[in-house]
Amino acid sequence: MPETPAETTAAETRVALITGSSSGIGAGIARRLAAAGIRVVLNSARSESAGKALAAELPDAVYVRGDVADADDARRIVAAAIDTYGRLDILVNNAGVTRFIPLGDLDTADGDAWREIFEVNVVGTWQMITAAVPHLRESGAGSIINISSVSATRALGSSIPYAVSKAAVNHMTRLLASQLGPGVRVNAIAPGLIDTPWYEGEDQVWESSREWITENTPLRRVGTPDDVAEAALYLLDAAYTTGDVLTVDGGRHVV
Ligand SMILES: NC(=O)c1ccc[n+]([C@@H]2O[C@H](COP(=O)([O-])OP(=O)(O)OC[C@H]3O[C@@H](n4cnc5c(N)ncnc54)[C@H](OP(=O)(O)O)[C@@H]3O)[C@@H](O)[C@H]2O)c1
Repeated sequence: MPETPAETTAAETRVALITGSSSGIGAGIARRLAAAGIRVVLNSARSESAGKALAAELPDAVYVRGDVADADDARRIVAAAIDTYGRLDILVNNAGVTRFIPLGDLDTADGDAWREIFEVNVVGTWQMITAAVPHLRESGAGSIINISSVSATRALGSSIPYAVSKAAVNHMTRLLASQLGPGVRVNAIAPGLIDTPWYEGEDQVWESSREWITENTPLRRVGTPDDVAEAALYLLDAAYTTGDVLTVDGGRHVV
């Protein structure tokens, strides 16, 4: 008698924790992963009602408020994912902050700006990873995706502290990939200009950047959260890829 194919039980369905997923890129990734049948844990530090509203919209999702820059919160966010679903397979480190400071304005890029940006983008990413790794190892096919930026490798971006924080994220990605295999893969995505609330209050920066990108990049448009989400889905299934930084910028890096 032919064997009946084993059905995937709810307990076997992959679980993804996506930081900073109440809006923009994180929300776009959450929607795409949920549509692919992955259970999703949403997070943000402040925008609780937006996070809860998105969780209610998705087929199987919960929202956990917490600041990734706070070590206790980072542990609590991961613990909430385990309490809810009993497993963790995917961590997307998307929460990020910046200050819009022209690259030549050295005085405004002071120690406070460096500390604030590094606390979230670098220390926060690290704290989420260290809290999640034991569970990702248990998954057997754990995957970490860090959201970086094209500014990590080019002389551009919202400020020098921000660009340097993303360069640190790229190198953290490579170093951890060298240590966490074979059970856990670690990759990053470097988006170019993506249409999200990130630029709220920075209308001039947004408009001039949008115009430049539309006129000069090979794909002639700015990116959407869904463009980044598509790259995330690709990395989740790219079983022989680790330590990579995937650029999603409409080809800006070649011009
Ligand atoms: N948009 C772009 O052009 C672009 C380009 C390259 C890279 N990126 C990167 O993409 C990521 C997402 O940006 P986005 O454009 O989608 O911006 P966004 O719409 O402003 O989203 C940022 C998200 O991060 C959350 N967040 C901020 N600080 C947090 C913290 N300490 N702990 C937990 N959550 C926190 C925000 O919620 P609360 O503020 O309510 O906590 C929000 O959900 C960032 O890492 C950014 O550097 C963006």
